[in-house]
Amino acid sequence: MAVTLHRTPAGPGWLEVNGKPFVMLGGETHNSVSTSKQAMAPVWEKAVALGLNTVIAPVTWELIEPEEGVFDFTMVDDLLEGARAHGLHLALLWFGTWKNAQSFYLPEWAKRDTARFVRAEVEKGKKQIERWGQPYFTVSYLCKTACEADARAFARFMRYLKESDDAIGTVVMVQVENETGLLGAGREHSDAADAAFASPVPQGFADAMRSCTASMAPDMRRSVEEGAASGTWSEVFGDNAEEIFSAYHVASYVNAVAEAGRAEYDLPTFANCWLDVLFDLGGYPSGGPVSRVAEVWKICAPAIDVHAPDIYVRSYLDVCRDYTRRGDPLLIPETATHAWAGIRAVHAVGHFHALCFAPFGFEDIGLPFSQQQGALFGMDVNDPALAHPMDVDEYGWYNRALQSLMPVIQPLYGTQHLQAVTSEEPEENAMQFGSIRISAERPSFLPQQSNYVCLAARVSEEEFYLIVKGCRLRVTSTDPNRPYAELLALEDGWMNDGKWQRNCRLNGDEASLLFEKQTMLRIKVLQYS
Ligand code: DGJ
Repeated sequence: MAVTLHRTPAGPGWLEVNGKPFVMLGGETHNSVSTSKQAMAPVWEKAVALGLNTVIAPVTWELIEPEEGVFDFTMVDDLLEGARAHGLHLALLWFGTWKNAQSFYLPEWAKRDTARFVRAEVEKGKKQIERWGQPYFTVSYLCKTACEADARAFARFMRYLKESDDAIGTVVMVQVENETGLLGAGREHSDAADAAFASPVPQGFADAMRSCTASMAPDMRRSVEEGAASGTWSEVFGDNAEEIFSAYHVASYVNAVAEAGRAEYDLPTFANCWLDVLFDLGGYPSGGPVSRVAEVWKICAPAIDVHAPDIYVRSYLDVCRDYTRRGDPLLIPETATHAWAGIRAVHAVGHFHALCFAPFGFEDIGLPFSQQQGALFGMDVNDPALAHPMDVDEYGWYNRALQSLMPVIQPLYGTQHLQAVTSEEPEENAMQFGSIRISAERPSFLPQQSNYVCLAARVSEEEFYLIVKGCRLRVTSTDPNRPYAELLALEDGWMNDGKWQRNCRLNGDEASLLFEKQTMLRIKVLQYS
């Protein structure tokens, strides 16, 4: 077994691959390239240019089980071969029953079999509704036969992965389904769904929910605490009954699929999420792993290790905070590729001690955005700060810098010795390491929309490694007995195989601590009275 996800009560945890700690500095491909070896050829090259260590790519049910019970793992073989040839790892996305809350990826034979793959009734008596000028349909989350078929296919896929990759560890995680849930309503409205909703809540679930209200979102907590201890969904969960009902069924379905797969090959898993930030319930998929139903997912889907937000919205940091506030690790499988991607990658590792940071459609990084991309991927082409694509060389630099520093950084995960600040949160610009304070700010001559980041890793009482960009640093002492601080050493350079390779010893003009371009530093701090 080459991959383990370690969880500690005190920290967010870490991934171990082939005996070594591993952080996914990833990129997710567009949805369709992984179906073609030729289409993937330039994508691998781009991943290398961007300094990624992990490519996140779909494996689709429709291609791996073209006839019921007949499996074709060519796309898996192609992905394993491509990744290995380029020295990359993979996180594979199981596009099964759900993809963007819809059942696009059912195999043809399953789509035709509408008796076994029952469509959800978003509205009573209707198997499709119209959304954004398109028909919207999804398999019902109550459909046991669909769940069993999905679980069987996923289990075969995981068995194949075990046979072909267990000894090597190319694949480090698997996402089970993609952005699950139901669009257009809080819950399904078939007769079966109405009956289930009017039935008593399974008592074990009601009790489990009542035992973990402390971590719940305020309105969820209120619903659960003010609801009845037992009874129908509405009686027990009040105003939030429909979303909790959907989450209970979606999470249980995903759990059944994940469990079947993990019984074959116990790789760590995640479930990604279409966020509830821009629209109300039904405008975002009801029942998907939004933070407000995290407790439901934890209870009903223990075979899922991490709930992972797809973050395209401007309130990026609020989402990161929300997904980590319960002590869970941060895993961002999809995010925007605009010019803040680089500083966000550094900050995600330094501040959130993330398991993964991955821009979506990374093969397009560096290309100008179209309006369509703006709409699809949440890039804000009307905001000058967000209108520019990430520069390929700059992003590659951040990833290579993070990877080179990883032997220093990773052991500090879960501790106060690894911190980061960013221009996205200018009021929180100071990092306190014992009585040494390192703060960062945008120099006044740089434009307001220019961004900055500073990651600091403390390796001894007085010694730090830093990744900085776009800021001026200040190093001060907060020890009343040693109130003065000076730099004993300031060097730029690179970490090679865990050994610091100095470029220049910086001093004189360079000791102004102004770093407009991305730079890796080693500093030593003296405190005295
Ligand atoms: C979120 C989905 O999970 C991705 O597969 C992709 O469709 C993106 N949205 C961009 O549209």
